[in-house]
Amino acid sequence: MAESILVDRNLSLDEKYAVLIKQVKSLVSKNDNLLSNLSNFTAALKQTFEKISWVGFYLFDGEKLYLGPFQGKVACTEIKIGGGVCGTAAKERKTIIVEDVDKFPGHIFCDADSKSEIVVPIIKDEKLYGVLDLDSTGLSSFNETDKKYLEEMVLFLSENIL
Ligand code: SME
Repeated sequence: MAESILVDRNLSLDEKYAVLIKQVKSLVSKNDNLLSNLSNFTAALKQTFEKISWVGFYLFDGEKLYLGPFQGKVACTEIKIGGGVCGTAAKERKTIIVEDVDKFPGHIFCDADSKSEIVVPIIKDEKLYGVLDLDSTGLSSFNETDKKYLEEMVLFLSENIL
């Protein structure tokens, strides 16, 4: 199913997420293939927020994270658990907001223009499934409001799609 995501640029951050979450809930479906759902999930986020330069999934294969569906420039294909922001969020099983990637020890540069980042771990039945990673070319682009809604979106995925 193709559906255009149009979120009014003048809305507040809370309002944008409210519209986006409603659209994502109707866009992704148990009847569709998992990769199709994850791909559309990343596209919906990228189309909604201009501040996002890269958004995608790194999925866990039982040993390491590997690149999943994403929107943005080409990226590294594998990340060790505990490595970079993604591997750290996966290891600690908690969302990490990085206001300035230059100040995060071990940050993995996929795109030299990336300045800030947020990574949300995906856990289902206490098992690590992967992480959702968002990058921005601006400093401090992601805050507690992003964290709250992105965690809600990831929870929806884990409860309904994975
Ligand atoms: N910066 C991430 C690597 C993935 S890219 O940003 C797409 C990290 O440090 O884990």
